Amino acid sequence: MKKLSKDIESFWDSCAKIYDGAEMTNDNPFEMSELFTHLSSISGDSIKDIVTLGGATGVRDPKMILENKFNHHFKDLYFNDLSESMVCVAEECTLSKFRGEVNCNFLPGNIIDICSKIPSAPRVVYLGVYNYASFISPNVELGFPVSGINEYIKNQEILGHGFSITPFMATDGKRNFFLDEKQSFFIESEGKIDLATKWITGFEQDYNFSGLTIVSKRNERSFVSRWFVPNKVRVFLEIYFPQGKFKITSRYCGKATLFIIEPLSGLPRGIVTILNNVVGNILPSDLDSILESVRLLQGQ
Ligand SMILES: C[S@@+](CC[C@H](N)C(=O)[O-])C[C@H]1O[C@@H](n2cnc3c(N)ncnc32)[C@H](O)[C@@H]1O
Repeated sequence: MKKLSKDIESFWDSCAKIYDGAEMTNDNPFEMSELFTHLSSISGDSIKDIVTLGGATGVRDPKMILENKFNHHFKDLYFNDLSESMVCVAEECTLSKFRGEVNCNFLPGNIIDICSKIPSAPRVVYLGVYNYASFISPNVELGFPVSGINEYIKNQEILGHGFSITPFMATDGKRNFFLDEKQSFFIESEGKIDLATKWITGFEQDYNFSGLTIVSKRNERSFVSRWFVPNKVRVFLEIYFPQGKFKITSRYCGKATLFIIEPLSGLPRGIVTILNNVVGNILPSDLDSILESVRLLQGQ
């Protein structure tokens, strides 16, 4: 598992210089606009900081938020990514113009390890995951003209040649909610897309079907991505952010679903962003601990 973790980090390191312009970065615009709509609706002057987890080069979150502010006065930024190279680009290029205006803290490393370095406070969490349906079907009007499966075939130079598709299932009420299953489909060419799609849709009837895990490898680099069935994600989030203490709402954004988790105790002091499928890109074994760390950030 340590090796896979290192290989995932190497993969994201290798993307630091190309991340901003990549199609896979920019084809999820409605996730940001839904976040903007919600952030603008928070009244008062309580929101003071932004915690960005898995921010890559910072070009979406937090840059687009800091540029517009949405009537808030952000004083502090806590910026994280697993990849040190990504954090360097964020610090030296993307976010340098906000120095002086906002107190910036750059925290490379695994979300699990860095959350304890951030002061805990009630915050609104914006968590975006990719929709399973978008892996198979594109939607031009909603900003993603190429389905996930086609996008991965097109970008094999970056991601690696060929990738495996594995369904994952939910188990009821257990912490290790997602279990990667043993069945896999390997695809390396456009000619196999129809066959793969047929194979994938065969799982849809299973009540426990929760989405797909994609893994590709290139030299010592591994790319992991999960595409989720949104209502299964909600059930999972409620384990960490229980009803009565938090309100969870969601917005369909085309490629993604944006979950908005609001603490019910007291005014939020800031926001946490975990966008563009960060929780789909982490090691499966980290999922529990990452959500636990984000909850602890709330001070409860
Ligand atoms: C698809 S990018 C999303 C970046 C950004 N939030 C956005 O909206 O464009 C996923 C990022 O998650 C980071 N990541 C993956 N696992 C992580 C972990 N365990 N801790 C922190 N960041 C992680 C990767 O390095 C990568 O930069």
